[in-house]
Amino acid sequence: MASLNSSSVSFLNSPSLPNKPLLTANSSLNQLSFPKSSSLINSNDSLTLFHVRSSRASSSRSPKVLVVAAAANKSEPLKIMISGAPASGKGTQCELIKKKYDLVHIAAGDLLRTEIASGSDNGKRAKEHMDIGQLVPDEIVVMMVKERLMQPDSQDKGWLLDGYPRSLSQATKLQGYGFHPDLFILLEVPEEILVERVVGRRLDPVTGKIYHLKYSPPETEEIAARLTQRFDDTEEKVKLRLHTHHQNVASVLAMFEDTIIKVDGSVSKEAVFAQIDSALTKLLEQRAEKIGSAIA
Ligand code: AP5
Repeated sequence: MASLNSSSVSFLNSPSLPNKPLLTANSSLNQLSFPKSSSLINSNDSLTLFHVRSSRASSSRSPKVLVVAAAANKSEPLKIMISGAPASGKGTQCELIKKKYDLVHIAAGDLLRTEIASGSDNGKRAKEHMDIGQLVPDEIVVMMVKERLMQPDSQDKGWLLDGYPRSLSQATKLQGYGFHPDLFILLEVPEEILVERVVGRRLDPVTGKIYHLKYSPPETEEIAARLTQRFDDTEEKVKLRLHTHHQNVASVLAMFEDTIIKVDGSVSKEAVFAQIDSALTKLLEQRAEKIGSAIA
């Protein structure tokens, strides 16, 4: 069997198979195999082309060689940024995106909270800024995020960057390091909803899952008993965080205007995810079509 390492496969020119990707980033592709009778047409760094004889070609009107499979040898992993006001649902959507698309979730706020928990000097400085809803200085946060993006898992699987960049200087530095998103998701939620989301938010320290006392309550009493609240999840502090967000968001959006999709984040988390999922599906289909046109 000929095996392919790929994350995107198209079947073309086939009367019996759909002319669209049969496999998506959600599929497990590492073991994808073709029968020995497949013949290799061409292979380079980005594409492998196979002729595959299919038993479905039994009809006399179907050509014997009917499938051309194209696979990206060095598949280009997805690179996504997600942005929005405090409590707009970034973390909640990242859980869902990660589950379906298997990307590495990198949340600037989580990296900073880990640093605080470690008791380091950087953590102590970061907390002073987080306590008053301000951005943590670039000299702490920029390298932290860059190093996480450069880890092998982020490079291999693709990344989902949550809450970063949050200022023009962070966006400029990120571009300078060569990190460009395929899609920049902006969650839009009216301010009055945000405050309610913040004060009701709870976190499970065991699973890391995000809950809300009203909108996403814990499944069991055991989980409910261990839930914690973030130190900056008060009405007073979220107003400071919102102020910082408004001061910076326009300059960040301007840097990514070619790749932005605006998503209504005020509906249920499932309905928000449906909008994001549809945009990601479209993006993957466009990529597969490009591979198809490269073959044609
Ligand atoms: P960070 O931790 O990133 O906080 P944030 O941006 O304020 O965002 P949140 O984590 O509060 O909210 P979220 O959008 O993830 O919402 P969630 O899904 O949890 O940053 C904290 C601080 O760190 C910053 O203030 C800053 O000081 C510092 N920092 C971070 N990044 C930095 C950077 N790049 N540079 C410098 N400093 C930085 O949802 C919230 C609640 O709503 C949950 O309870 C959830 O269950 C509920 N919910 C979510 N979606 C829905 C829905 N559709 N319907 C109903 N309820 C929902």
